[in-house]
Amino acid sequence: MKALVHEQYGMADDVLAVREVEPPEVGEGEVLVRVRAVPVSGTDWHLVRGLPYAARLVTGLRRPANRYFGLELAGTVEALGGGVESLAVGDEVFGWCGGSFAEYVSVPAGQLAVKPRNVPMEVAAAGPIAAFTALQAVRDLGRVGPGRKVLVSGASGGVGTYAVQFAKVLGAEVTGICGAEKADLVRSIGADEVVDYRAVAFRDIGERFDVVIDIYGNPAVRDCARVMKKGGTLVLVGGTGGRLFMGLDRWLRGMVAAPFLGIKARPLVHKDRHDDLVTLRGLVESGEVTPVLGRTYALDQVAEAIEDVRAGRVRGHAVVTI
Ligand SMILES: NC(=O)c1ccc[n+]([C@@H]2O[C@H](COP(=O)([O-])OP(=O)(O)OC[C@H]3O[C@@H](n4cnc5c(N)ncnc54)[C@H](OP(=O)(O)O)[C@@H]3O)[C@@H](O)[C@H]2O)c1
Repeated sequence: MKALVHEQYGMADDVLAVREVEPPEVGEGEVLVRVRAVPVSGTDWHLVRGLPYAARLVTGLRRPANRYFGLELAGTVEALGGGVESLAVGDEVFGWCGGSFAEYVSVPAGQLAVKPRNVPMEVAAAGPIAAFTALQAVRDLGRVGPGRKVLVSGASGGVGTYAVQFAKVLGAEVTGICGAEKADLVRSIGADEVVDYRAVAFRDIGERFDVVIDIYGNPAVRDCARVMKKGGTLVLVGGTGGRLFMGLDRWLRGMVAAPFLGIKARPLVHKDRHDDLVTLRGLVESGEVTPVLGRTYALDQVAEAIEDVRAGRVRGHAVVTI
């Protein structure tokens, strides 16, 4: 079978290659999935480059610990390992696993759920991990509820398009920050107001928010405090900056500074959770949330997709169909 192999860190074009490899075995508690669609996210750019360097403690110091690339998928169940009762052969599923850019992958059953029935594979594949991140930022750390004023920075991206929709589902009044070219997209998924980050500096937004979900990860924490109500919650999701920590240092400084600025700063390290996968399926099936599919690519175009996502050329999610 074909699979995308990642044996060293570097530019995606140089270090990702589609190769013929042995199909996976199906172990106890696992499910063999015929992969149909895999999303590409900002995290893939980090993984392929091995950045920030601090993350290599987890992803592999000198070379990637996982030779096969890809984190999420949608596909069809081909075979069941021993003890799997939650799924059946032929089920159309979505979820997360390592090495998903491949024709087949073996996945622990607890990392899969039946996909939303009302959307095709490539839409279902559009970012379960982005959705977990957004859900945990908005619902769990931001504790967003009816009438809360919420600011989402990075509203047009993979995580942001979910964060805007989850905040609206929870009854909030939402302002999204993105580039002017995607303002229509962010309005179409429910944002009440949209701010163009090139036209308005963060500190000058001129509103007072209960919750700021900082997904892009560039404003100084003191600038966040200027647009927040006293006691408001800043959820730190993304990071930009130096190659060693890429914003993790800003998170730490923010957490120290926040009490003196009269706000709470909550950093998010998202968790992949089956419960949240099921929640996502329910919200998509009820029509309350729609994954935003921007563009599809073929398996030999993953490097191009990674660069397009990085450069902001995709409206919502990039998805590779296999
Ligand atoms: N903490 C966690 O557990 C966790 C989990 C997953 C991801 N993340 C992080 O979350 C971040 C976003 O991921 P993603 O996949 O959503 O990325 P993405 O799809 O590339 O989206 C980036 C977003 O940031 C916006 N943006 C670009 N430049 C900006 C600026 N100068 N000011 C404000 N906004 C700007 C983009 O707007 P335009 O495209 O309209 O220009 C877009 O909305 C990444 O840093 C990723 O590593 C964190």
